[in-house]
Amino acid sequence: MRLEVEITGKTYRSAAGETHAVLAPLTFALQSGEVGVLIGPSGCGKSTMLRIILGLDHDFDGHVARPPEARIGMVFQEPRLLPWRSVEQNVRLAAPDVTDAKLSELFKILELEAHRSHFPGELSLGLARRVALARAFAVEPDLLVLDEPLASLDDALAGRLRDEIATLVASRPVMTLLVTHSLDDAIRLGDRLFFLSPRPARIVQEVPIATPRSERNEAELARIRAELAALQLESK
Ligand SMILES: Nc1ncnc2c1ncn2[C@@H]1O[C@H](COP(=O)(O)OP(=O)(O)O)[C@@H](O)[C@H]1O
Ligand SMILES: [Mg+2]
Repeated sequence: MRLEVEITGKTYRSAAGETHAVLAPLTFALQSGEVGVLIGPSGCGKSTMLRIILGLDHDFDGHVARPPEARIGMVFQEPRLLPWRSVEQNVRLAAPDVTDAKLSELFKILELEAHRSHFPGELSLGLARRVALARAFAVEPDLLVLDEPLASLDDALAGRLRDEIATLVASRPVMTLLVTHSLDDAIRLGDRLFFLSPRPARIVQEVPIATPRSERNEAELARIRAELAALQLESK
């Protein structure tokens, strides 16, 4: 499977009739098993790009080739749970084929066991985010799209969830697109990093990480970090 993104432009129109460009021309592709990471300033157009890629926004110029049969798992920036459904029902509705064993495993990993029957209104933002992750994973997606999924979680939990994402990605041939502000998450998870400009977003630089994820120990991560620093991406 392969995702091909070729956006030539995207503009929003304000109520007053003014248009502003949100996405500049940008092109990239992702293969099964690859993790692409989008890194860019707030408001540059990352979430807009994800909505286009998911087929939720058709009002753009260009073309996105998504395998039509691809199962999609998505974590939006806001958890977007159904408020009148329990945690467990939220996951089951998105993933009707999920087995009890798989569900239990996910709830255990994400430390949600005690919250199965709670309703979204009873959850903290961090818990709600974990439910959104459980829901995306339960689908066993071919295309996993994560919009800042680890934001506002404490460091320890964010680290564990990051490892879970790595485990999932290693266990199945999934194409993953991750938006993050954390360079650390990017270099631990990504195969290709896309550094974006301020709005309208374009790809300033694409940086491949050749070292397999499983071989990225602290020394290797430090080396990658130094390599990125040498690119002086901030000044571009
Ligand atoms: N529905 C919309 N209508 C008009 N402007 C929007 C809409 N959604 C987002 N924008 C604007 O488009 C820009 C990019 O937004 P977004 O894609 O959410 O950025 P990011 O995810 O990179 O922070 C921002 O300036 C935002 O205010
Ligand atoms: Mg966003």
